[in-house]
Amino acid sequence: MCGIVGYVGPRPAAPIILEGLRRLEYRGYDSAGLAVIQDGRIELRRNVGKLSALAENLEQNPVHGYIGIGHTRWATHGKPSEYNAHPHRDCTGEIVVIHNGIVENFLELRRRLMAEGHTFRSETDTEVMAHLVEKYMAGGASLLEAVRRMLGDIQGAHGIVVMSTRAPGQLVAARMGNAGGVTLGIGDGEMFIASDLPAILEHTRRMVFLEDRQLALVWADGFECWTADGRRITPQMHEIPWDPVSAAKGEYKHFMQKEIYEQARSITDTIRGRVDFERGEVYLADVHINAENVWNIHKVVIVACGTSYYAGLVGKFLLESLARLPVEVDYSSEFRYRDPLIDEHTLAIAITQSGETVDTLAAMEEARRKGARLLSIVNMIGSQAQRISDDVITMQAGPEIGVASTKAFTASLVDLYLLGILLGTLRGTLPVERRRELVDELARLPEKVGRVLGDGNAYEELARLFFQRQNFLYLGRGINYPVALEGALKLKEISYIHAEGYPAGEMKHGPIALIDKNMPVVAIAVRDHVYDKMISQVEQVKARDGVVIALATQGDDAIAEKADHVLYIPPASPLLTPVLAVIPLQLFAYHVAVRRGADVDQPRNLAKSVTVE
Ligand code: AGP
Repeated sequence: MCGIVGYVGPRPAAPIILEGLRRLEYRGYDSAGLAVIQDGRIELRRNVGKLSALAENLEQNPVHGYIGIGHTRWATHGKPSEYNAHPHRDCTGEIVVIHNGIVENFLELRRRLMAEGHTFRSETDTEVMAHLVEKYMAGGASLLEAVRRMLGDIQGAHGIVVMSTRAPGQLVAARMGNAGGVTLGIGDGEMFIASDLPAILEHTRRMVFLEDRQLALVWADGFECWTADGRRITPQMHEIPWDPVSAAKGEYKHFMQKEIYEQARSITDTIRGRVDFERGEVYLADVHINAENVWNIHKVVIVACGTSYYAGLVGKFLLESLARLPVEVDYSSEFRYRDPLIDEHTLAIAITQSGETVDTLAAMEEARRKGARLLSIVNMIGSQAQRISDDVITMQAGPEIGVASTKAFTASLVDLYLLGILLGTLRGTLPVERRRELVDELARLPEKVGRVLGDGNAYEELARLFFQRQNFLYLGRGINYPVALEGALKLKEISYIHAEGYPAGEMKHGPIALIDKNMPVVAIAVRDHVYDKMISQVEQVKARDGVVIALATQGDDAIAEKADHVLYIPPASPLLTPVLAVIPLQLFAYHVAVRRGADVDQPRNLAKSVTVE
């Protein structure tokens, strides 16, 4: 997760920016940098590694300026290095940019700008933004207008801050999609910008949260907000309560809600530094499987609990499709007592957000005892699961506080997708063209997630209609059957309504006896190879006076003729559809629980990490 801090006012900018970046350290990064305007010139200081290296650099090479921007980077495009660290400059060195997100179309923009004579200094996608702003300012645009026009050229979801010596005393901030928050802190005669509240909370509690497709022009005594299409707007001002817990929640009512809405950014961060989009290659730094030892793996066994187990069920589809390896998935609590048939030719994958779930740790020990290679997909850095594994893929989703797991689930799916590409590449099951398609789909995922999150109100209205029901059935097929299970679990564990996930094809073997107007059915009926089968299920439920909430693909109007309510998600590759399909189910469960007055972040009887048997 990249951290962003900006300052303009009467005080030296560098110490404020450095301290702000320190407050964002929990987000993880591999390089850091800042720029200030000093005597009419941009002074840039950047370092690989921790903030201490940047602080030492500033000690030895101090800067003096009253306006500046700073950034901690988790590499996306281009390895961690000084020249890839933010801020990035244009050709003249008079414009600098810091950025959170992925410029999906940066390759074509880079080529076009180079053809127009621009010289690039880094391998990053971010640098194209600086050159685009340079191009528009050269044409006479103001800094604000140049940034606005740049936003029109780039695709994807972003949080951005731009500064230029040609616009002294001004910063321009922008937010596109949900890949990175942009918060304005309003001080007395000074202004702050940050990707997260903790970076600036010590200076002010008066905040403005930029929303999707919004820009802000900021100077020491104030700010203006605009939409990306050029309309002036008056944003809502928030007074943040001082206590750190509610500050950590920011603009959200619950951690679960915040973590659901963070998923465009957390997915961006899960991808960061792991994909070469041009070559269609995946790099997983802590996975030591290579072109030789990959052939020792004859099968995969996935062990996990709860939501992580459902991620494993999706993982079976991903790894079998991409790597052509047979995959078994088992509840950790079952695996360890069934004397499993595994040996040194088994890759045992543990999926665990906390990395401390005792059943999963025990399953890992059992797999190790039988000679399996251990790989864990884990969110909490330094956890036991991570320590005992041969290979580790970190989810990079940031802290997940809500007991109900949301962003860790979608991060797990992306990690399994990345692992599938890596194993498929090593095993020769993925030609380069297919790999390029797969990574291109991945690059477009955060923006699609942001679009699903943008429809928040639809779920509140639906929750109002259904929050008093006592039972639900969730139906899915194929790769989306595990999503039905996860959707049912979300509803169960935070609203205490009984909900059951079922493979839709099994309805006629019993569960259809349950259907009547008191048993709402959530049917995942996205446009895929089993769509017609799902439509037939919807019709069977309707024929028995059932009530259907369908989850469908945008553009599918036909389903609205059959279902009582429809929630839409953008079209995506079948392998990534579960990442999008789960989000409406998370939001529906959240709003039902809120309406029922449940303790959303700490549901009764549950713990965030089950460290007892
Ligand atoms: C999910 O919402 C639940 N909180 C629970 O099922 C959880 O996924 C399970 O306990 C596994 O936790 P882990 O991923 O930390 O191992």
